[in-house]
Amino acid sequence: EALTARVSLHTRRTVGAISPLIFGGFAEHMGRCIYEGIYDPASPLADERGLRSDVMAALRETNYRIMRYPGGNFVSGYRWQDGIGPKAERPRRRALAWRSTETNQFGPHEFMDFARELGTEPMWAVNLGTGSIQDAADLVEYMNLPTGTHYSDLRAANGQREGYGVKYWCLGNEMDGPWQIGHLDAAAYADKAVEAAKLMRWTDPGIKTIACGSSNTAMDTFPSWDRTVLERAWEHIDYFSMHYYAGNPNMGEPKEQVDTDSYLASSVHFDEHVDTVAAAIRLAKAQRRSRKDVYLCWDEWNVWYRATGGDGEWAEAPHILEEVYNLEDALVVAQWLGTFLRKADVVKIACIAQIVNVIAPIMTRRDGMFRQTIFYPLTLFSRHAAGDSLDVLVDAPTHETRKFGEVPLLDVTASFDAPSGDGAVFLVNRSQGQAMQVTLNWEDVSPGSLTGAWQMSGRDPRAANSFEVPDAVTSRPIALPVLDGGKVTLLLPPLSFTVLTSRHA
Ligand code: AHR
Repeated sequence: EALTARVSLHTRRTVGAISPLIFGGFAEHMGRCIYEGIYDPASPLADERGLRSDVMAALRETNYRIMRYPGGNFVSGYRWQDGIGPKAERPRRRALAWRSTETNQFGPHEFMDFARELGTEPMWAVNLGTGSIQDAADLVEYMNLPTGTHYSDLRAANGQREGYGVKYWCLGNEMDGPWQIGHLDAAAYADKAVEAAKLMRWTDPGIKTIACGSSNTAMDTFPSWDRTVLERAWEHIDYFSMHYYAGNPNMGEPKEQVDTDSYLASSVHFDEHVDTVAAAIRLAKAQRRSRKDVYLCWDEWNVWYRATGGDGEWAEAPHILEEVYNLEDALVVAQWLGTFLRKADVVKIACIAQIVNVIAPIMTRRDGMFRQTIFYPLTLFSRHAAGDSLDVLVDAPTHETRKFGEVPLLDVTASFDAPSGDGAVFLVNRSQGQAMQVTLNWEDVSPGSLTGAWQMSGRDPRAANSFEVPDAVTSRPIALPVLDGGKVTLLLPPLSFTVLTSRHA
C-alpha cells in the first residue's frame, strides 16, 4: 500500500531569491577533466580548437551558469604564465597535486574561449600555495585590465585585446588541508588572503573575492578555521568557499551490510552543515559590527566514494577519480541541490565537482561519451528552479535511520518566479520499498496549468549507466497529473526523483 504525504506551498512564504550561480560547475586540471574531457584535439569529435563538440552539447544541456577553474588542489602549484603564448613553447611541468604531467596546452585563453562558448560566467582560483600575492594581482591585470600595462599588453599580444572582465576570484583552494601545497594555518592563510585581495582589488575594483572555508567537517580545524578566517578577512571578501563530498561509506561491502537508508537521508546532514556555517557567518558579521554581507560559495560538492586520487604516475591525462554513479547517488545529488534551494538566502554560488570524467556527470572516451545518473537531477534543477525558493510545509511519514535517527521519507523543495508565474516542485521519495501518494496544495495562487513532469526511478539503487547501456537510468517525462483547483496528486515510486512544473496565471 502506498504511503501518503501532503505538501503546502505559498508563493509569498519564501526562503530567499535563488541565485542562478548555484547551478555551477568546476573544471580542474586533474585526471581527464580538461585533457581527454573538454579538450581533446586527437578525438574525431573535437572542433577546430580541440573542444569536444559532444561534451560541449551535454554541458549546454546542464546550463551551467558559472565555471570554477583551474583547480582544486592543482591550482596551489600552478604558474598561470605557463599557459599563455604559442602552444609549442609552453613548458611541460610536473603537477605535484595529482602526480601528473601538465602540458599547458589548455590555459587561460583556451578556458575563456570554452566559457564563452558555453555562455557561462568564469570563476578563477589564484594560487596561494606556491604563488605570491603579486602573481595573483598580475593574473587579474592580465585577464581584466584595458591595454596599456605590461600584462594587459601581453594578453593583447597573445590575441585578446579586450579585457576578459573575470569577476569572481577564489583566494586559493582548500588552504585548511595539510594535503594542500603551501598549506597554512587559519590566521596565516587569512592574512595572506587579505593581502592578495587588496592587491587584486586595487588592480580591478570590480572583482568579487572568495576566501577558503573548511574543506570538510571531519577536519578538527572545523569550525575554528572558519571563525578565524571570517573574522580576519571579513572586509576583504564577498563570499566564503565551502566544500562537501560524501558517499555511501559501505559501498563495496556485501549488500546486506550497506546502510542505504542513511545514505539516502544524507541531505539531513548537509542541511545542518549549511546552517552551522551560516551561523559562523552571522557571528563574524556581529563580531565585526559590519553592515556588509558575505555569502556562501559552495564551489565543490558531489558524491565521491569509490576511487582514490593521486595515482597519476606522471601521465598527461591519468584515469583518476572516475566515479561511476548509480540511482541512489542521483537521488542524493537531487537532495543536495534541494539543500542549496532550501538555503537560498545564504548560498549564492555552488559548483558541482567536477564536470567531466573526474567525479563527474559526464564520462568520455575518445570516440564518445555517456551521461551519468547524476546528470539528470543537475539538469532538471538548473533548467527549472528559478525566482524565489519557497518555504514548503511538508507532512510526510518518517522512518528510523542508523546515522540520522528519524527522518522524513520525502525530501521536497520548490521555487516560484513571480515575474513569469513559473513554479517548480522537486520531490525525492527516499523509501526503498514503498510508493508515496503526495498531494501538493498551492495555498494562494493556483496553477493555471501544469507545464511539465519528469521522473527518475528504479528498483535497483545500484543501477548505473555505461558506454554499453548509456540510458539505463535517466529522467523521463511522465503524464501530467490532473489539476484539481489548487491541488495535484502525484504517485512517487520508491527510490524516485520527480519534478513538476506549473504556470500560475
Ligand atoms: O575535486 C577534487 C579535489 O577535491 C579538488 O582538487 C580539491 O579541492 C578537493 O579536495
